[in-house]
Amino acid sequence: MIRLGVNIDHVATVRQARRAHEPDPVAAAILATLGGADGITIHLREDRRHIQDRDVFRLRETVTTRLNLEMATAEDILAMAVQVKPDEATLVPEKRQELTTEGGLDLLANTATVRAAVQRLHDAGIAVALFIDPEPAQIEAAKALQADAIELQTASYSEARGAAAIAHEWEKLRAATAFALGLGLHVHMGHGLNYTNVIPIVRIPGVEELNIGHSIVSRAVLVGMERAVREMKQLLQHHAQAPHRPPTSA
Ligand code: PXP
Repeated sequence: MIRLGVNIDHVATVRQARRAHEPDPVAAAILATLGGADGITIHLREDRRHIQDRDVFRLRETVTTRLNLEMATAEDILAMAVQVKPDEATLVPEKRQELTTEGGLDLLANTATVRAAVQRLHDAGIAVALFIDPEPAQIEAAKALQADAIELQTASYSEARGAAAIAHEWEKLRAATAFALGLGLHVHMGHGLNYTNVIPIVRIPGVEELNIGHSIVSRAVLVGMERAVREMKQLLQHHAQAPHRPPTSA
């Protein structure tokens, strides 16, 4: 069964809007877990705009499933990861002005930096995923860099408009997944997935994990975290078994 990693960064974003104590990402993580999350994902950004160092330590102590730390390859963040030992680190590109992560890591342009980061995380016993675009050259590079998994960015799919464009992006994700599985990589996906466009994604054979934040936290504001996660989890469970066919809408 496909794993659901719930990204709770936005909970910390609300807290940081007032530099207050609530809402607490630890409480959100507990409720997400009660709702069926298979893991909790957080992004410790260099600018610390949402998740803070203290959150990472507290979540490491309280998350009973899998803690996935999204991170850039910056020295202080790497040092933090090695200390905290998340179950998994997902390396992502980071620009200060971006609203959210934009596009995947370019492994061809950043080979040496990523290789050193993967090595350091592996030495600390941390599994490493690389967040990349669904391109064969990037997937081959991920394999060469000894990543355990790739997280294919689904932003291009999520932002596609019109049935033909959506089907085109979906096919890229399907083909990339098949290619990566053939190389022995685990395949995760994430970015921009919601309660509608996730359905064709879970029909792609071999996808092991989805990391979803914005849509779940947005729904949680209205219906509560536990219910928002349960509804997403039910979608994954219901549609994962359906026959494999291209999407007609998303
Ligand atoms: N995966 C990665 C690597 C991300 O950077 C993000 C956003 O932080 C997500 C998944 C979740 O994206 P969204 O919030 O759009 O669901």
